[in-house]
Formats: sequence, structure tokens, C-alpha cells
Amino acid sequence: MAQYDVIKNELEANPKKWMITGVAGFIGSNLLETLLDLGQEVVGLDNFSTGHLHNLTQVQEAVSPERWQRFAMIKGDICDLATCQQACAGADYVLHQAALGSVPRSIEDPITTNENNITGFLNMLVASRDAGVRRFVYAASSSTYGDHPGLPKVEDTIGQPLSPYAVTKYVNELYAAVFARAYGLQSIGLRYFNVFGKRQDPNGAYAAVIPKWFSGMIRGQELFINGTGETSRDFCYIDNTVQANILAACADNEQAANQVYNVAFGERTSLNELFDAIRERVVKFVPVAQTMRPTYRDFRAGDVLHSLADISKARELLGYEAKYSVGEGLDLAAHWYVEHL
Ligand SMILES: NC(=O)c1ccc[n+]([C@@H]2O[C@H](COP(=O)([O-])OP(=O)(O)OC[C@H]3O[C@@H](n4cnc5c(N)ncnc54)[C@H](O)[C@@H]3O)[C@@H](O)[C@H]2O)c1
Repeated sequence: MAQYDVIKNELEANPKKWMITGVAGFIGSNLLETLLDLGQEVVGLDNFSTGHLHNLTQVQEAVSPERWQRFAMIKGDICDLATCQQACAGADYVLHQAALGSVPRSIEDPITTNENNITGFLNMLVASRDAGVRRFVYAASSSTYGDHPGLPKVEDTIGQPLSPYAVTKYVNELYAAVFARAYGLQSIGLRYFNVFGKRQDPNGAYAAVIPKWFSGMIRGQELFINGTGETSRDFCYIDNTVQANILAACADNEQAANQVYNVAFGERTSLNELFDAIRERVVKFVPVAQTMRPTYRDFRAGDVLHSLADISKARELLGYEAKYSVGEGLDLAAHWYVEHL
């Protein structure tokens, strides 16, 4: 049996208390849905800066009323230590997702990104340490590889950061390692590579490429490719990411803790290929999308050219199996965006 199935069975038989920050966001709300489905008790914390109440409403609609009752929501900010302490009280596991994402946002406003992503992170570490949680799992980022040209990316070899956002995510890793050494707080950092899937926000100036293109094709808007379109990414469907979080929290082999792991599918897709793949799926619902063509414009500051993960460390130490390919993930995402837009 796959390690993920073993752990899910154990959790169902012996439910735990989980604390999720950023629970009203894309990744946080998907974590919530899976954990409630497994009969877990969950406390969520979010200030709704980029998250939405409708994400939580969708989770409520997806799980049984009895399971929904095991969820307690705190509207608050990770920049406030007392709020973090209240949220972490009695938690077995913390899944820390709250942060301000987006490289361009951090280039425009590094101070706000720093406050949320570093001060807020430090508060959550202190609160998790004081609450005596079993493990602190946090959203790290592939942006930490920075300007290092090597492919595929291996956890030990990073370059210089290319944006304030990348600095904050690297500082998170440094702080987590120090809290392990100085206070014995067990942590695992998950370097996500371009996660996508249901509930990822298609709106706003800092929307990620996949939701932006789904919504743009469905609504018939002009779509842009920054650069030649040969830029590539290791796109990872949300259910793979959820799996990695649950495995990371529950992994009980000694070597697994106090490490960072790549979380990805392990394949590279160029933006030109992605555009075609999304159009191919949208056309089934919106035939006029067949005529859509991308408009090419300048490459964006702070972006890396290519990204591809070596996922063998997560496979070996956590039992991670990237179940959903990019194509399967895009099929599922297409249905969701067509239904919800
Ligand atoms: N989506 C990706 O591809 C990707 C890639 C690498 C890393 N990450 C990281 O994963 C995490 C989740 O990202 P996401 O894509 O779900 O983004 P998201 O914006 O949908 O979710 C982030 C959530 O955190 C909340 N939040 C932000 N600042 C907060 C604060 N100060 N206090 C309380 N809540 C706050 C937001 O309201 C939002 O609900 C982030 O840490 C992000 O940096 C995401």
C-alpha cells in the first residue's frame, strides 16, 4: 500500500488536531477539504488579504455537515503573535501556508512582503514552539533556487535569490533550521513548484498563469506571454501538494524531519505548450476559444527562465508519489474553471 494511503487510514482511525494558516487561500482551502474528509479537527487562520470566504463556502459544500463542525475559523493576522498563539493552542500539526505570494508583488512592495512572509513566519514558529506542536510544515518555494542554472533542481544546490519574495522564502528555511537547533522544534519545508488546480484565484494583478489563462480563454480576453514562451515550469497539480503536506506532517522516520523537499511533478512544460494545452481543454466547452492566440511581450524581472524539480528526496524520505500528471491536473482544473466562471 502507498505510504499516503497508510497515513490516511491511520489518521481516520486516530484523528489529530491541525492548524492551517492561509486556510481561505488556494492551497490552504484544499488542505482543509482533505483533512475534514479524513475526519480531522482543524483550526484555520486567515486575514483574507488574498484569500476568499467563497473558498471556505465551497469546502463546506463539499464535506458533510458533521465534518464541517470540526472546523474552527479565526479571522486574524499572522503578524500578531497573540493571534498565532491562540490558533496553535493544542494543535498536533501546523501547516503554515499564509504568505504574500507573487514575485512581481514583492518587487513592487518588498516591505509588505517582508512583514507577512518573515515577521509572520517567525510569529508562527514561536507560537508553534510554545504550543509544543509535533511538527511545523511550511510552504517554501522553488524561487529559492534563484539564479542557479542547474536542472533538475536538487535541494542542496541553490543560487542567489532573484526577488524579495525569494529572499523571504529562503529566510523561512533558515529560521526553521535555527528553531530546530535552538529549541528542538521539528519542521519540514516544502518547496512548491507552480501549484495549480481548483480554487486558485484567476483575478487580480498577481494571478498565476494557469488560472489567468483559463479565465481569459473562457471570457475571451487578451492573453500575454512574457518572453518567447520557451520559459518552462514544473507545474504541479494541487492534490500532489496536499499529499506532500500530509506526508510531511506525519512522517515518523528520524531522517525526514528538519529538511526541505521539492514538491512538484518532475516534468517541464514550456509556456507555449501550456497555452496550447489549456486552449485544447477550454475549446471543448467554449468552441470560440480555438481562435485565441497569445500576445508576446517583455520578459518579467525576477522570473527564472527554467524550472524543473528532482523529486527523489521527497519520494525516498516521505514516500511522496506525484499521482496527478500535468495533463490530468489540467483536465480537472478545466472542469472546475468552466463551472465556476
Ligand atoms: N501557488 C503556488 O504555486 C506556490 C508556489 C510556491 C510557494 N507557494 C506558497 O504557498 C503558500 C500558499 O499559496 P497560495 O497559492 O495558496 O496563495 P493564496 O494567496 O491563495 O493563499 C495565501 C493565503 O494566506 C492568507 N494570508 C496572507 N497573509 C496573511 C497574514 N498576514 N495573516 C493571515 N493570513 C494571511 C491570504 O489571505 C490567503 O488566504 C504561500 O506561502 C505561497 O508563498 C505557492
